[in-house]
Amino acid sequence: MDNIQKALFAKEVKQGLRANPKTLSSKWFYDEIGDQLFVKIMNMPEYYLTDAEFEIFSTKSAELIEAFGVKDQYFELIELGAGDGTKTIELLKALRFHDFAYRPIDISINAIENLEARVKREVPEVKVKGAQGEYFTALSSLKSNHPKVILFMGSNLGNMLDDQANSFLKALAEVMNAGDKLLLGLDLIKAEELVLPAYNDAQGYTAAFNLNLLTRMNNELGANFEVDSFDHKPKYDYDKGLALSFLESKKKQTVQIEYLNESFDFEAGEKIFMEVSRKYDDSSIKAISDNTDLKLTNRIYDSKHWFTDLIFEKQ
Ligand SMILES: C[S@@+](CC[C@H](N)C(=O)[O-])C[C@H]1O[C@@H](n2cnc3c(N)ncnc32)[C@H](O)[C@@H]1O
Repeated sequence: MDNIQKALFAKEVKQGLRANPKTLSSKWFYDEIGDQLFVKIMNMPEYYLTDAEFEIFSTKSAELIEAFGVKDQYFELIELGAGDGTKTIELLKALRFHDFAYRPIDISINAIENLEARVKREVPEVKVKGAQGEYFTALSSLKSNHPKVILFMGSNLGNMLDDQANSFLKALAEVMNAGDKLLLGLDLIKAEELVLPAYNDAQGYTAAFNLNLLTRMNNELGANFEVDSFDHKPKYDYDKGLALSFLESKKKQTVQIEYLNESFDFEAGEKIFMEVSRKYDDSSIKAISDNTDLKLTNRIYDSKHWFTDLIFEKQ
């Protein structure tokens, strides 16, 4: 992490731990260990989201490409928060004789370096150049007038509440040109028995993934969190379609963060809000895409109708 990113990390940690209730942003989950834990989570049987979207990308790539409407013209395939790219590789294989360049963006430098190497190894015909950074900072460095297809998969958008997601899509539409496409992968509302285990796998990888952010603060900001004195506590509100993750302090304690020259008190049972994972239905899809200059043109589902990849066209 460079000094600019570290200062931003520290600033957000300070704001979050001073807030009531306390909160930390899940975008900081992804250091080298966090990336590896997320890959393990995706491989767990409980994490149905990846299997469902993988099925779409591996069995319906022709339908996706048709919906992109790129025909023979050169285009840029930009992916926001690309991660390990397992699903995208399926699409790249299907696209490999098209004229395009793949531009993955991720806040994690490890994710970008590994993905570039993986694409070169597995689909050598594809031109790939990644960018490390926050979605919009990295996107502005990729500005061009070539037609664009933007991928935002894995229900990443669901890590924002609807108002934020709506502002995000409005801002995204502003950097798109008329005719550009957005593929948005969204998880759909379903029963608690299916959703909750996805955020609390039996092997404990999701718990470790959340707790790793405390270790990251210890390593990078000189904090002294006793990681074992916090528990991972997910919950799901079916009526609102919200899966929420918390870390709960097992005891009354004070944590120092050297980089901030500040300490933070925790009551026994006090929770830090870590992440929202929104589950969608038609009305929430409308809420996030309303007034955005993005027109929904295609809806593609997995065979169980648990997940959808929506295609929008910039007007
Ligand atoms: C839940 S993973 C999903 C990965 C991939 N989209 C998939 O569907 O498998 C989220 C990814 O987005 C990245 N990410 C999270 N917040 C980000 C931000 N604000 N800017 C850029 N990348 C971000 C993370 O580093 C991580 O690789």
